[in-house]
Amino acid sequence: MTYPEHDHTAPSHDHQAHGHQGHDHAEGVPRGLGPGDGDWDERYAASEQIWSGQPNGSLVSQVAHLEAGRALDVGCGEGADAVWLARAGWQVTALDVAGVALGRAAKHAQDAGVAVEWVHSGLVEAGLPAGTFDLVNAQYPVLARTPDHESEHVLLDLVAPGGTLLVVHHSPADMAHAREQGWNPDEYVFPGDVAKRLGEDWVVEEDATRPRDVPLSGGGMHHTQDVVLRARRLR
Ligand SMILES: C[S@@+](CC[C@H](N)C(=O)[O-])C[C@H]1O[C@@H](n2cnc3c(N)ncnc32)[C@H](O)[C@@H]1O
Repeated sequence: MTYPEHDHTAPSHDHQAHGHQGHDHAEGVPRGLGPGDGDWDERYAASEQIWSGQPNGSLVSQVAHLEAGRALDVGCGEGADAVWLARAGWQVTALDVAGVALGRAAKHAQDAGVAVEWVHSGLVEAGLPAGTFDLVNAQYPVLARTPDHESEHVLLDLVAPGGTLLVVHHSPADMAHAREQGWNPDEYVFPGDVAKRLGEDWVVEEDATRPRDVPLSGGGMHHTQDVVLRARRLR
């Protein structure tokens, strides 16, 4: 599936257009996961479509049993997960630093006939209200690891009591290619970083490395293993 570059529906919020997180990837845009800073728009603009257009397998398998409610998709990219959730009856907010990606995502949602609230911002900068979402989904996020673990705390805080946090990333064992391309996974938040910050209000429902449902097209097809953290907030 391809999404034409015209007739974008404007994102409904524009909290921050760049999402710079203090890392310098001046040498250009690597393949694989891509840059952690404001180069994301550049990367998306360089091709008509980056990702497969299909929802992530780890989202579908981990969430299909949940009762639909309010969902947040963090780093939604071209919107396939947000659209899948909206089709499944979720009331979806989807957030990304890349306006180019959000334009494609909005077109995808329009074509699918579903409504999604798009937020143009980095996660930390968005200032979304705590305790709001019955599901927070972060698939292969690119969130800077910081000494105060700000991204991890924001992810946890956004989940409503009784809600679910799903954080999925590529297995560290799968990262040789990304490192070769100049992307250092040690600078970014992985499911294990989030797991370490779960307090007594949380129960871990899944914490595992699993074979990835590799997409048939699009970027990142060389990643074959997912690290999956699914946790539920008790109160
Ligand atoms: C590897 S892509 C994953 C996209 C999507 N979740 C998927 O699975 O197809 C990472 C996404 O995170 C976005 N991003 C980068 N920094 C971000 C930040 N600080 N907050 C939110 N999104 C960010 C990028 O623009 C990009 O769309």
